[in-house]
Amino acid sequence: MVPAKTLLAQDFPSLCKKAAQIFLEASADAVRTKGVATIAVSGGSTPKGLFELLAESLYASRVNWSKTHLFWVDERCVPPQHADSNYGMTHATLLSRVPISPSNVHRMAGEMSSPQQAAKAYENELKSFFKLTLSPPEFDLIFLGLGEDGHTASLFPKSEALHDLDHWVAANFVEKFSAHRITLTLPVLNNAKKVVFLVSGNSKAQVLQQIFTDDSGSKRFPAQLIEPRLGDLTWLFDKDAASKLPNEVRYQAFHL
Ligand code: 6PG
Repeated sequence: MVPAKTLLAQDFPSLCKKAAQIFLEASADAVRTKGVATIAVSGGSTPKGLFELLAESLYASRVNWSKTHLFWVDERCVPPQHADSNYGMTHATLLSRVPISPSNVHRMAGEMSSPQQAAKAYENELKSFFKLTLSPPEFDLIFLGLGEDGHTASLFPKSEALHDLDHWVAANFVEKFSAHRITLTLPVLNNAKKVVFLVSGNSKAQVLQQIFTDDSGSKRFPAQLIEPRLGDLTWLFDKDAASKLPNEVRYQAFHL
């Protein structure tokens, strides 16, 4: 695996600007070379700033929305209108403001009563869209977040889906929420052309330091299991999130 790139943004707005540029570049490259771009996004709060920026005409006007397909990294088991829905957040901040066709928006059906069936349905959607049955899909770009416990997507520490190498999408029971989440699994996440972690804020400083200084080889944080097979991995964090990183890591990062 190519060593991860690290990008240090001065603040959250510049982190979002860099993430939006990455989105534009990955989408344009994929449309130019393949005629279609496939991008999977995460939920939570960090991506909101990226989505709001992408919805602004300066960026939105430079995306070929007719050839860009959006997918989700994970989803809560709630209907799309629910305040916790990752799709709902993306719709409010981005999808409702750009000319993307509904057929280019591939949401996970969090409203299904069976999380297992919702995971299966999404896996079938991936198989049909990517015209694949055995090897996992290769997304052009996947944006991941980082939880304070080191989770990413909905792959939480000690959760079952962490070890699921036989499916592309899993219904993962998360103890701390006593609820299932639907999530892409490591075989898909690590098959992407480009994976970018977006990490912002002081609350992530501790876990980021633990990840970047862990020489135990234990990979106890799920985020450490993100090692794209052939693709490249970028950590894009802001100054607050980087505040506990060792100086050498900060110096080696490309300063935006
Ligand atoms: C989700 C996300 C999750 C998120 C991290 C970070 O469904 O919540 O996919 O993995 O990326 O929890 O969340 P924040 O961006 O809100 O810190």
